[in-house]
Amino acid sequence: MTGNDLRTKYLKFFESKQHTIIPSSPLVPENDPSTLFTSSGMQPLVPYLLGQPHPQGTRLVDSQKCFRSQDIEEVGDNRHDTFFEMLGNWSLGDYFKKEQLTWVFEFLTKELQLNPGRLFVTVFAGNESVPRDEESIEIWKGLFASVGMDASVVDNCEKNGMSNGRIFTYSEKKNWWSRSGVPAVMPAGEPGGPDSEMFFDCGEELHLHENSPFKNLPCHVNCDCGRFFEIGNSVFMQYKKGEDGVLHELEHKNVDFGGGIERLLAAVNDTHDMFKIDVFWPIIQKLESFCDKKYGESEQVNKSFQIVADHIRAAVMLAADGVVPSNKAQGYFSRRLVRRAIRYAQMIGIEGNLFDELVDVVANMYEEPYPSVKRQAESVKEILKTEEQKFKKTLNKGLKEIEKIESLNGEIAFKLFETYGFPLELTQEIAIERGQVVDKTQFEAEFVKHRELSRTASVGMFKGGLADHSEVTTKYHTATHLLQAALRKVLGTHVGQKGSNITVERMRFDFSHPQALTKDEIQQVENQINDWIAQNLPVTVATMSKEDALKSGAIAFFIEKYPETVTVYTIGKDPVTDWISKELCGGPHVTHTGEIGKVEITKEQAVSAGVRRIYVELEK
Ligand code: ALA
Repeated sequence: MTGNDLRTKYLKFFESKQHTIIPSSPLVPENDPSTLFTSSGMQPLVPYLLGQPHPQGTRLVDSQKCFRSQDIEEVGDNRHDTFFEMLGNWSLGDYFKKEQLTWVFEFLTKELQLNPGRLFVTVFAGNESVPRDEESIEIWKGLFASVGMDASVVDNCEKNGMSNGRIFTYSEKKNWWSRSGVPAVMPAGEPGGPDSEMFFDCGEELHLHENSPFKNLPCHVNCDCGRFFEIGNSVFMQYKKGEDGVLHELEHKNVDFGGGIERLLAAVNDTHDMFKIDVFWPIIQKLESFCDKKYGESEQVNKSFQIVADHIRAAVMLAADGVVPSNKAQGYFSRRLVRRAIRYAQMIGIEGNLFDELVDVVANMYEEPYPSVKRQAESVKEILKTEEQKFKKTLNKGLKEIEKIESLNGEIAFKLFETYGFPLELTQEIAIERGQVVDKTQFEAEFVKHRELSRTASVGMFKGGLADHSEVTTKYHTATHLLQAALRKVLGTHVGQKGSNITVERMRFDFSHPQALTKDEIQQVENQINDWIAQNLPVTVATMSKEDALKSGAIAFFIEKYPETVTVYTIGKDPVTDWISKELCGGPHVTHTGEIGKVEITKEQAVSAGVRRIYVELEK
């Protein structure tokens, strides 16, 4: 089965259960400064999980592009990747545990024909505020019984092992889901809840084989041995963290299901290696044609192929969504992906240009679900090739630097890794030539320190984000619409949004325009926005078909991304006869422009040929 087949099967299956198919949002969240990347299917739906009505109703299904930056270092085995697609279905206060678990089981065992004997499930063991999930246990027992299986429950399987169990209970560390983790670290305003996960057994031999570091430990479904693939997670998203630090029941109980296409596809194709399926394999094959190594030759060679394949795919998908390598924010991760891909490619003997041919391989793989990747293939190539050339120069410089360092050790090896992307193995090789030893433990200690720092940084970023500052970001969001309307009025209707980014400090807006704005134009735009704010114009929202929305004069940032039924935000005295801005948009917005206060344009600059960037700040 191919990735396209699986995606279609899943969407159709849930469509037959009265779900509406919604399109994937971009990899960089729009108007959500709380996080750098869309890393799960629920992320673009947070306002709806918290109670805002969704224009498509209460049952939704999609396949969402995701990127998990924290997994970059994990790639290099049979089951980790950074970019992936998450199949998702949601109940927004509609059905709950019974329907969800029944449908997932039906999908896995009937539609995908997975052998139920190879499926294992987990449920929440309970904590001081949320009880053990007895309801899910009973539902699972019934489902397994329906295929003639007696499913027994095992607690503490980390210690007890599988003990012939089918249903396992785990603490909140494993069976609680929110974007930020366990209840204690959830910021105020964040939704979450207990979950029930499904695992596919790839075979006990993966735990027991001779070289397995786990072979003398009890195996269980969350064991790191690689035997079990997590193929789906049903989150019962029924809580929200309150300002008081306590979990409060949401008015509506939601379901948030997510399942990675790649792992599910590996299970369906009965392989324990995700890289052998068609959303990776064409990249591996192309890489093989560039060198004389073969995938499968050794674990070390596989690791290089896996890292290069994953990173190239992710860098291409990110670039198609506007993420360009740089040393800041999202761009920093794109840069790391490109650099690591080049280094690991060199380790299997690939010295030539990586992106010339591989961008096309990725674009072709995703032509059906994401045609915009192919449309942008040439510019994506340019972007990634430029970074590649730049890095190769840095690399040569780095090698010269190494020559100057008298004694190499683990700490220096880590610095070289961080600065030039030198993998430990390379520095070790150099060191060996000189009769020196680079201590792997010291390198790893530095590495762990660094990883903890980046984790803290991303959690910090999340805390400082939308959840805490929703009022300010909502004002900036409406100001974005006013800015676009003012630019179109002053400069002309060729102006179209190319991107936007909001933090609690400022708003940034990219738009099409051939030359720099004059001082006078900037002043006119700023005055126009402040004039509309002073008029305290109402902001209204309506739901309509995409066609009607466009006919009514609404503008859309990225037309292909919007579903058939859309929400349209209008700013003006009358939404039909007297308005100044009308845009397809998911909100949220202020109700009257007066709430924004005064704004100031603080900077105007070029981004690329034909694209300008403006920064706006609210008066404090
Ligand atoms: N949001 C859940 C996850 O990412 C489904 O696992």
